[in-house]
Amino acid sequence: KVYRASTTAPVNIAVVKYWGKRDAKLNLPTNSSLSVTLSQDDLRTLTTASASASYSGDDTLILNGEVSDISGARTQACLRELRARRAALEAANSDLPKLSTYPLKIVSENNFPTAAGLASSAAGFAALVRAIADLYELPESPSDLSLIARQGSGSACRSLFGGYVAWRMGEQADGLDSRADLVAEASHWPDMRALILVVSAAKKGVSSSSGMQQTVATSGMFKERITTVVPKMMDLMEESIKNKDFEQFAEVTMRDSNSFHATCADTYPPIFYMNDVSKTAIRAVEYINAKAGRTVAAYTFDAGPNCVVYYLEKDAPTVLGTFYQALSSVSGWKEGTASVKSEFQLEDNLASVLKDGVSRVIMTGVGEGPQKTNEF
Ligand code: DP6
Repeated sequence: KVYRASTTAPVNIAVVKYWGKRDAKLNLPTNSSLSVTLSQDDLRTLTTASASASYSGDDTLILNGEVSDISGARTQACLRELRARRAALEAANSDLPKLSTYPLKIVSENNFPTAAGLASSAAGFAALVRAIADLYELPESPSDLSLIARQGSGSACRSLFGGYVAWRMGEQADGLDSRADLVAEASHWPDMRALILVVSAAKKGVSSSSGMQQTVATSGMFKERITTVVPKMMDLMEESIKNKDFEQFAEVTMRDSNSFHATCADTYPPIFYMNDVSKTAIRAVEYINAKAGRTVAAYTFDAGPNCVVYYLEKDAPTVLGTFYQALSSVSGWKEGTASVKSEFQLEDNLASVLKDGVSRVIMTGVGEGPQKTNEF
């Protein structure tokens, strides 16, 4: 008999960024963070976990159709934690099949190209943990499972929920209080949209794990960020979400992205994730907000050059209309948004930098958390 469970898990994009670890083994952060979970129609990982007494040998992992290394410390930490919880259930109930002793087969695939350079580790580890927890019929809540996913990749702990999600940094050395929790369901503020500008990087940048370690070790500004800046941003961000106050949400999002990239520049030697196309996207967002006379769009950047623009559905004509001339011929621009009126035109030089530098766009929005599925 083969026991099997499948789940999907979403990507999340932080609006208050996680950057810095106080414990690199457990992925315990130096600050709390907050993200928006994006719709799985556009971006998701689908993972099936199975176990059987008839499987022989070691656990296996297939990622996007290719045999992948399962021996990494982070993956092993997740598997160990999940198995231990299953073993405890089996010890308490001898009728349960001994799944904890069977080899696992894990098959995982993304519905978006890995080449897009979008952080897929968050969705990947969230799906891995959720699928195995379902296979093992663990009673743990998503917040409890977030402790395990966090050990795979810090940002993965936030992908166990939909909507608006906080990762509380916690203070304990064992990390048991460093977990994700729900700030608001997607349905609380469903009209949040995200336009992702995929910007191809000439060469691969510094990974987030290593970049944040270098920042912690060398940046003076970083101390100010974690002690003063982020705690205030977290309060303002949660307040803006509760009140559905887009102007406040947008200002905090942009300020936090700027603060994070400033600490990267303050790292010695400096780390630059944004390139000229990224900076042009910032100019374009500033232009839109200036023309609109209020804040209708917010940019944010992770550890790479891609730009995520958050905006509300009601402002789609203004936001998409302004990008239309530059981006409507880029792959991923959705039909139906073509009819938006070009209220404002981007200056030709901004438009042409975006047209040449953006290889693909993803038009998406806030979405739900992991979903069980029968797709294998
Ligand atoms: C800039 O979660 O990828 O996207 O814990 O080392 O796996 P590890 O790092 P990771 O870092 C994400 C950094 C970020 C900000 C964020 O998502 O909060």
